[in-house]
Amino acid sequence: NKDMKIVEKLYREQTLSDNELKTLIETKNIEATQLLKKYADETRQKYYGKKVFIRGLIEISSYCKNDCLYCGIRRSNNKAERYRLTRDEILTCCKNGYNLGFRTFVMQSGEDGFLTDRFLCSIIREIREKYPDCAITLSFGERSYESYKCLKEAGADRYLLRHEAADPNLYEKLHPKKMSLENRKKCLFNLKELGYQVGAGFMVGAPYQTTEHLINDLRFLQYLQPHMIGIGPFIPHHNTEFANNKSGTVELTLRLLNIIRLMFPKILLPATTALGTVTPNGRELGLQNGCNVVMPNLSPVKVRKKYDLYDNKICTGEEAAECRGCLNRRVKYAGYKIVSERGDYAF
Ligand code: 5AD
Ligand code: FES
Repeated sequence: NKDMKIVEKLYREQTLSDNELKTLIETKNIEATQLLKKYADETRQKYYGKKVFIRGLIEISSYCKNDCLYCGIRRSNNKAERYRLTRDEILTCCKNGYNLGFRTFVMQSGEDGFLTDRFLCSIIREIREKYPDCAITLSFGERSYESYKCLKEAGADRYLLRHEAADPNLYEKLHPKKMSLENRKKCLFNLKELGYQVGAGFMVGAPYQTTEHLINDLRFLQYLQPHMIGIGPFIPHHNTEFANNKSGTVELTLRLLNIIRLMFPKILLPATTALGTVTPNGRELGLQNGCNVVMPNLSPVKVRKKYDLYDNKICTGEEAAECRGCLNRRVKYAGYKIVSERGDYAF
């Protein structure tokens, strides 16, 4: 059938026309859907086998000067509980993580003015010195070229900055006026120029998002050529403008993961916490649909509920003091295997 032909073409040529992408994103054809998933998994296995890379996520601050309309830690949410980890707390997370087999640490935070280059560089230098066999990934939002340069020179390897929405009209609907898509894109190109391995990405099923917007996101990613692509379903947060909007669906998220795997065969593609939040086996499904990375939480349990981007976020309770063991079982059950490696891009 016609939709299966489109899948075959995507597998062969790693790209499609806008019309074909639209058909594929929207198809309800079961055979085409199954074939797409099969090719996505084959491609993932061609480059990464059954390997799953893990990244230890350390959420170092929930202060944020931005006001993204969808996000639970936006500045105007005065009910959000704010915290900042100390230098020692961050280093303790790394130590625990290293002992659990993590060889990548991801430090993430809201856009917190307290996180100066001086403070961050000195922590990065210390992690770099203590754990020379680990990759250091940063996710601190938009900063200046000089700041990114300084963090890179201190020893950071990678940077995650989702572009969020490549279409200017959608970007505007999801962000306050003073945030600019232009600057966000500029940041991503600056990071690439500085030699970071770069991750971009977007939410699936965000308010106002159409198939055309998603196609625009894929085109932007083809232009940027990142090393990682982070996507997960939008999930409403009760203290935001979008409290009453619907979450993105598992089906559409998996569909986009499949397409991304085929368009970017070697990409590092996480099965996200948001996907694991919209359905209990979401991350396992992600792994079976092209993903090859999971990013369990290494933050101290006492702050986990405060890094509250969306409602019902998993791995925030006492039971999650040890995500490593839980994920090991889950990944194994899904048919894959967690490895204790840095997990760099397959250049
Ligand atoms: N639902 C899903 N993902 C969200 N993010 C922020 N708020 C939400 C939400 N309500 C995502 C953004 C951001 C990443 C850290 O979390 O895409 O880049
Ligand atoms: Fe965190 Fe299961 S992975 S509790």
